[in-house]
Parts: sequence; structure tokens; C-alpha cells
Amino acid sequence: MATPWWTGLDLRVLRHVRGVLRRQGLQLTLVERRPLEAAAFAALSLEEPGAAGLAVLANELGLAERELVESMLKEAALDVAAALRDRDERDEEPPGRRTSYHGIIGGAPVMQELYVLLDRAAPSDSTVLIQGENGTGKELVARAIHEGSERRDRKFIVTNCSAFNDNLLDSELFGHKRGAFTGAIADKPGLFEMADAGTFFLDEIGDMSPTLQVKVLRVLQEGTFNRVGDTEMRKVDVRIIAATNRDLQAMVSAGQFREDLYYRIHVINVTLPPLRERPDDIPLLIEHFLARHRRQRTKRLMPDCAQRMLAYPWPGNVRELENEIERCVVLAGDEPMIGADLLSPRIRQWAPAEELEVDVQPDSLPAAVEALEKRMIGAAMRRHGGNKTRAAEELKVSRRNLIRLVQKYQLE
Ligand SMILES: Nc1ncnc2c1ncn2[C@@H]1O[C@H](COP(=O)(O)OP(=O)(O)OP(=O)(O)O)[C@@H](O)[C@H]1O
Ligand SMILES: [Mg+2]
Repeated sequence: MATPWWTGLDLRVLRHVRGVLRRQGLQLTLVERRPLEAAAFAALSLEEPGAAGLAVLANELGLAERELVESMLKEAALDVAAALRDRDERDEEPPGRRTSYHGIIGGAPVMQELYVLLDRAAPSDSTVLIQGENGTGKELVARAIHEGSERRDRKFIVTNCSAFNDNLLDSELFGHKRGAFTGAIADKPGLFEMADAGTFFLDEIGDMSPTLQVKVLRVLQEGTFNRVGDTEMRKVDVRIIAATNRDLQAMVSAGQFREDLYYRIHVINVTLPPLRERPDDIPLLIEHFLARHRRQRTKRLMPDCAQRMLAYPWPGNVRELENEIERCVVLAGDEPMIGADLLSPRIRQWAPAEELEVDVQPDSLPAAVEALEKRMIGAAMRRHGGNKTRAAEELKVSRRNLIRLVQKYQLE
């Protein structure tokens, strides 16, 4: 006999519904096919309504009671279907493939390379430069490096270099002596001193002024610095992790970033892939964020909603995806399922070209032109991952014109 479908399944997902049924004297049964006798039943897959599913066998169930039990079973069937997918994915995974790493979610080949690099970089105590577009997880990776290092029990301090003006950042990072400037009413240690023996994450390092670049270089080379307005030399032992979404190399060539500092922080270089280069990770991330932002039970996406999320190029990367999920969860209220109607317009309307073709039946020349325009622009934007400059080049229109049309057709 073939092994039943529930072999190796994590059945903890059924604990709750099993308990509720038991209290009513009912017994949950996992079945290979819809039972012939009277039963409340929910199939695991909508495509095969008579096949495997969850059943409660009871001749004496009244109609109303049966409907109630069936609605519970339907919900539970969703959880079981998800657990089945997990099990099957687990079985398919080649050995050593990781789908998460210190809170970083992703199983794509580029992520495997990233994890291997982090395995080596984290314990090394070297300076690390993390580069990547907005929302690709630079701060998450910086934390993972700290967690994987000997310094994990010490402080992890974060400063965003673009959030302060030069003088404030100087005092924030290095501290100041009383009277160093108006308002400096007492001696104050800086964040470097607080990070001593730990890790310092300098975010947006590309926005740091040349003067401060010199001070940071000195910390890196000699482990020494002075508080603002103070002549006493102080020593610290900090590991620096820097991040930027700017092209530091180009900034060096343009004379905007010190070359010596660039080489000093560039010892280990981690470049994070944008989400559009690992679309297979989108379902994994969706599951992760649905669970993270859930209220009581984890909601699920209806197939059309999931499809649209998969088709969208996510120019804002993982942060944009996370925000969208959080928004959907809130808007769905008590509904356990999230439909495509809850998606932000830019995502909902990012339909593949073929789909647009069917639903447009232009009855006039202007309408036909608009339909074609919308389709071509949508397709070009998708091909270029939402990059308007490149899409405009391909379509041979000005960037301004393209932006106007993208807004008109709500293609963003
Ligand atoms: N691979 C990932 N797995 C899980 N969550 C992620 C991943 N990447 C990013 N996130 C989440 O997305 C959000 C943005 O991540 P993070 O702040 O690390 O990005 P960033 O690259 O520093 O962005 P920015 O350039 O805008 O500062 C966070 O909530 C983070 O937890
Ligand atoms: Mg960041």
C-alpha cells in the first residue's frame, strides 16, 4: 500500500481544531478521499474536491452543526496544505541548502553564496562593507555578522550617517568635552566608546563628510580618537561594519570619498541581491511576513493575490514586500484570506501583458491607442525591473513623458 499523504507531516497545525472538536465529542479524521457516509468534510485542494482531506464522521450531525464544523475544517485544511508544501519542499531540498540565516530569509542560490560568505566573514573580526539597494536587508546582514562573531554578547550599535549634520554626527560618534560648543554642558562619551568591545554599524557611510572620514579611518587604523574639543587620546576596540546604497567606488573616482578609507572598509565586501534577482524567494518571504504580522491566526493569500505579488518587480525590495503584507493583513480585518482587491493599486494593476489583452475591448481609436500604450509601457517596465530611465530608452520616449504615462495608467 502507498504511504498515506500525512506521512512526515507536521501535525501540530491541527492541535487547535482537534481540541475544539474533541470538546464537542467529535473526532477529526484524515482521509484519502471524501467519505461516502454522512460527514463534515474539507478537501485539501480545490482542484480535487473528492480527494484527500479532513473529515468528521458523524451521522447525527444536524445541517447547521455540520456547516459550522465544515467551516472549521476548511480553515484547518489551509494550514495542512501549507504544512504539506513545507514537507515537500524539505524533501526536495539538496543537503546544506539553507532557507534562513539569523533572521535573513531566502533560499535562492545567490543567498546560499551570501550565507557561505557570512559564515566566513562573521567570525573574522574584519571590517565589512555591505552594499545593496534600499530595503535589501543591509542592516539585517550587519546584525547577522555581529551575531556570528565573538562579539555577539557585546553591544551592537547603529548610526545612520545621513541622519545628522556634520557637527552633530562628530559629537554623536566620538563624544565631546564640556564647553566644546554651545550646549555642550557636560562631558559626553560618544557611540564609539559605548561600542567598545562590540560592533559598530555605520549605515549610509557614503554620506559622511571628508572630515569625519578621516576620524573613522584613524579608529580603523590605530583604534584611537579624540572627543570633540578634547586633546586626550582615547582607545577603543570596535569592529566596524559599514553600509551604503551608493556606488562608493564611483564616489572615490569623483573625489567624494577617501580612497584610503574605501580600501580600509572594503576588506570584505558583501553585495546584497535585489529581490527581482531572486523571485523564487518571494513566496518564502510572504509566508514569513504573514506570520510576523499576524494577529491571532496567520492569514493566507488567495491565489490571484499571490500571483500578482509574484509578477510585481518590487523596486523597494524586501522592505516594500513586508510593508505590503502588513498593510494587507490590517485591511483584511477578520477575514482569514487576503484577496487581490486589498493589494495596493500599483501591485494589483501590474498585470502581465497577456492578461491585459483579454480584458481590453477598445471601441474607439483613442481607447485602442491607450490600451496599446498601457500594455507596452507595462511590459517595458517589467522587463527593466521598474527602472524608468531604461524603460524610456527602450520605448524611445523621454523619461518625463514615460513618468507621466506610468502615473496615468497607474503602472507603478
Ligand atoms: N532577506 C530578508 N529576510 C527577511 N527580512 C528581510 C530581509 N531583507 C530585509 N528584510 C526586512 O526588510 C526590512 C528592511 O531591511 P533592512 O533595514 O535591513 O534593509 P536596508 O538594506 O538596510 O534598507 P535601507 O537601504 O533602506 O536602509 C526590515 O524589516 C528587514 O527585517
Ligand atoms: Mg538600512
